[in-house]
Amino acid sequence: MVPWLIDSRWPGVRSSVVARTRLIDDALATSLGGQIDQLVILGAGFDSRAYRLPCLHGATVFEVDHPDTQTAKRKVLECILSVPPKHVRFVAIDFDRQNLESVMAAAGYRESARTFILWEGVTNYLTEAAVDTTLRWCSRAAAGSLLLFTYVHRDVLTRPSEYIGTKNLFASLASAGERLTFGIEPSQLPEFLATRGLSLESDVGAAEYRARYFKDAARKMRGHEFYRVALARVGPPDNRLV
Ligand SMILES: C[S@@+](CC[C@H](N)C(=O)[O-])C[C@H]1O[C@@H](n2cnc3c(N)ncnc32)[C@H](O)[C@@H]1O
Repeated sequence: MVPWLIDSRWPGVRSSVVARTRLIDDALATSLGGQIDQLVILGAGFDSRAYRLPCLHGATVFEVDHPDTQTAKRKVLECILSVPPKHVRFVAIDFDRQNLESVMAAAGYRESARTFILWEGVTNYLTEAAVDTTLRWCSRAAAGSLLLFTYVHRDVLTRPSEYIGTKNLFASLASAGERLTFGIEPSQLPEFLATRGLSLESDVGAAEYRARYFKDAARKMRGHEFYRVALARVGPPDNRLV
């Protein structure tokens, strides 16, 4: 009943999130030669990758989030885990009021390390200035480090009725005091990133990543096509960490 209710009220959201979760898990397991020194999760929310992915146990994981969200998550973690994992560092920040660079430096983040930065589910709620500042901070990671982030197609902000399910989705966001504020036209993404010191490696929409994981069943899945996952590398395209 619950999946059915979710799918009828917010078409495409659940299947998109499921496929996206797997896509990101796979990217973490296979990127940087399978050896990540640092994982930075910006706007971590209730992301559980630090606790469930074996490929991260040798890495330092920085969970960076608003203090209110982080406090709630830590209470839940205390109930589930008898001992807090040593490889996870909690970094509390309000992106609108505090400087990411100084907060991360104080938490022990090393710019010279082989780093994977994950920024899932956040850019669409930020201002363009906040996205710009954060991308520029990401581009100061060691050359060849990776940034995986999600964003929405800019058209969903200006022509939402062209996408299935946006009426209910936007109404739900509004009732939670949220709205989509930032999007990018995918064809402009390579240049948008290049001007900020990053090179685009891949960019896929929900229809494509659903097809990758749900195979034939994805043909019947509709909605949330505007939600995209981009992978970018720090530095020019041929800059790889070995
Ligand atoms: C939609 S959730 C995404 C959570 C997680 N990354 C995921 O994909 O499941 C957005 C996250 O951004 C964080 N966030 C929103 N505004 C923020 C701000 N001004 N400062 C710090 N974190 C913020 C929230 O606390 C929340 O964890």
